Parts: sequence; structure tokens; C-alpha cells
Amino acid sequence: MLKPPFILSIAGGGSTYTPGIVKSLMVRLSDFPLAEIRLYDIDSARQETIAPVVEKVIRDHSQTIKFTTTSDPEIAFSGAHFVFAQMRVGQYKMREQDEKIPLRHGVVGQETCGPGGLAYGLRTILPMVELIDMVERYADNNAWIVNYSNPAAIVAEGVRRLRPTARVLNICDMPVAAMRNMGAILGVDRHKLEVDYFGLNHFGWFTRVRVDGEDKLPALRRHIAKFGLLTEDAAQTDPQHSDPSWVKTWRNIKPIMDHFPDYLPNPYLQYYLMPNDIVEHQDPDYTRANEVMNGREKKLFAAAEEYKRTGILPDAFHVGVHGAFIVDVACSLAFDLRQRHLVIVENKGAIANLPYDAMVEVPAYITAAGPEPVRMGAVPLFHQTLLMQQLASEQLLVEATLEGSYEKALQAFTLNRTVPTMQHAKAILDDMIEANRDYWPALQKAWVNGE
Ligand code: G6P
Ligand code: MN
Repeated sequence: MLKPPFILSIAGGGSTYTPGIVKSLMVRLSDFPLAEIRLYDIDSARQETIAPVVEKVIRDHSQTIKFTTTSDPEIAFSGAHFVFAQMRVGQYKMREQDEKIPLRHGVVGQETCGPGGLAYGLRTILPMVELIDMVERYADNNAWIVNYSNPAAIVAEGVRRLRPTARVLNICDMPVAAMRNMGAILGVDRHKLEVDYFGLNHFGWFTRVRVDGEDKLPALRRHIAKFGLLTEDAAQTDPQHSDPSWVKTWRNIKPIMDHFPDYLPNPYLQYYLMPNDIVEHQDPDYTRANEVMNGREKKLFAAAEEYKRTGILPDAFHVGVHGAFIVDVACSLAFDLRQRHLVIVENKGAIANLPYDAMVEVPAYITAAGPEPVRMGAVPLFHQTLLMQQLASEQLLVEATLEGSYEKALQAFTLNRTVPTMQHAKAILDDMIEANRDYWPALQKAWVNGE
């Protein structure tokens, strides 16, 4: 087992999420003792902008934890026990492209869903594998990478194919954010909820929600039929996802459950089940990437600037389930706590009627040797079919990346439920190739003009 106090590296140190994650670590130091925090980022200018804020957060809680920032992987990972990965290949500028290119063709433009998510996957799989290799080269042999990097479903599948034995646990905060909202609606702390869940990342359903053994889905259904997955006063429920676009997303749980009331859907299902409505309400010239750049990112940069000038750090970043969840998962890995969390794992029969090797999102007991998934049984035909189509789209995208195949990329785009026709798929893919030329592996066509 890994011995505390730990050396923790954050890959993607310049992320807007870093101060919040570090704050979550600081309030849990007695559970997860730290000797050193290292920030690693290939964009050192961005990382150096955010680093003083992070250092201040650390020093408010500890004078002894060593703090290092670097762009050198050897310095970042030597002897590290944990790596929290949150890379964003191409940064928000490329997220903007992922969102705007499909919208130009009347198709959902989203960071992780639809063509945008597929494009982001093509950018991220190989850099993620590079990161794993660097960590394996320099870090403690028993080090764990806990990975938030998106698109998590595709990243998980790419890593499974290329580095099947790597000590990587892929996670997402969306189910736990949904549980926070359920807790707020039910008037209980989210840790009191016992849930079952099945799906792929950003594509799944809660099938059971209990508190002290009592079924709470009926009460949630009644609330959702009026307000969606938010309390009446949205601002009270969710400070992390509180921009109007997120409020709308939580509210959209209502129309989905109006049609299919059996299970409680992951909010990302809105993009697959009601794409027309989503496109209608998206401004093709001002997408979520713009909101984030002009909101969360700008606020944090301005606070860093003000802190440098005045020595006073304004309230500029969010501390919530995102940071708390990754710390929970790391504690369970570090100390073999066997806590039950929703994570992304190889299926191995957990969902009986999905392929054995699919990367699925289900509850798992998190042990020092990794996640032990819980069996969710066979899922209904409707959900199984939706999942199979999405899985095929994501797997073909991974194969396109590894084989450099244009045809497989086109199949991946065509199979995605957000894309209405093969002509849409091709037009979007061709625009994406152009926009991603600095990032994507080359995609070759097997036939050109019939030859
Ligand atoms: C949720 C998802 C993440 C995603 C994020 C986007 O937390 O689980 O995978 O990256 O939302 O939020 P943003 O505020 O950047 O649109
Ligand atoms: Mn996520």
C-alpha cells in the first residue's frame, strides 16, 4: 500500500478547476495527508498565472506542504503517489470549435457529446497515453492516476486498448452532482443516498435511489415533474453548475422523465434524446465555451491579478462536489476503504447485456487494488439499444484514432444519435479535420475518387 504523507501531482495544473480541487484537499488533510503538491502543465504561462492562488489556498491550511510548479514531467512525477489528471487538449479555444462547427450544420455542439465530443476524443487519446507513460516512468510503482480528463468515455476506451494494465481510474462528477441535487430536493446530505446506476459516461440512468433503505424515486419523480432536478430556488442547489445554461440542463430532466419516468437520466442525455430542442436554444455565435471563458476563467484570472497587486484573494473559484469527489476516490484507493462510488470501469459482466469489455459507468467498491464493479444485471431493450449505438460510435472513434482511418471516423460520426444523416456527418468531420490539424493524427481515406 502507498504510505502517507503523499506526493500528489496535478496534470493540467493551469485548469480553472485546480484551486477548487486543492481547497478540497486542504480540508481533508487529516484523511489524505500530503507532503507535496506539484502542478504540471505544458502551458507554463497559464499555470504560473494560477499558481499563486493555489499556493495561497495551501498556505491558509499548511506551512509544511511543499509546493512545486513545473512543465518538466520528470520533476512533476518522480516518486509521485497520486496523479490527478485534468488535461484539456487545445484548451477552451478548441472547445469553442467543438461546439460551433456542428452547430453550423444544425447539429448539437457540445464539449463531450455528439461530434464535438468525438473531435475532442481524437485530440485527447494519444496525449493521455503519453501522460500515462510518463507517470509509469517516473512515479512510484503503485501510483494511481485518477482521471477527470474528458471526453471520459472515449479516453477510458482508448486507455483500455492501448494501456490495459495502467493504474488509471476514470471518473466524472456528473452523477455525484446529480446526487447533490437529489439530496437538496430530499433534504438529506448526498452521502446518505444509496444509488444504483448504469450506462456509459455522460450516458446513463439512476435506477434506484434510497435513503435508509426507503425508495426515494417516487418523491424525486413528483418533484422533477414540476421543477426538473433542481430545488425551486436553483441557486441554492448547485453553485458549480449555476449558469443559465446549466439551470436549463437540470430542468430538462423533466421532459425526459415525462416521456420515460422509470429511471432518472444523466442530464447529458438531453443532447441525445432532444437534440432539436437543444440546437434551437443554442446561440451558434456564443456557446458554453464562450460562457466559460468570459465567466469562470476570466473571474479566476482577474482574482489572480488582484491577489498579486493587493495580497488579498477575492472569492473566485468554486469548492464543491467536483473537488470533494476526486478526494473521496483517492482516499478510498489509498487506504483500501472500499467505499462505493460511481466510476468508469471495464464492464466484465456488471451490465449483463453489454459487451464484456465495454467501459461502463456503474457503482464500484474502490479498493487499494482498484475498483470492484457492482452487478447491475441486464438492462431493458430500450436502454441497451441506446447504449450499444453510443458505444459503437465511441469505439469506432477510438479505432479511427489508432488506425488513422477516415472511414471509421465517418462511421463514428454517422452512428452518433445527434447526427441525422451521413451527409451531416461528413460535412462536420471535414470541417473538424481542418480545425484540428494541429492536434489530430492524420486520417487516411482507403478510397479516393473510387480508386
Ligand atoms: C460536468 C461534467 C464534466 C464537464 C463539466 C462542464 O461537471 O461532468 O465532464 O466538463 O460539467 O462544465 P462547464 O461548466 O465547463 O460547462
Ligand atoms: Mn463528466
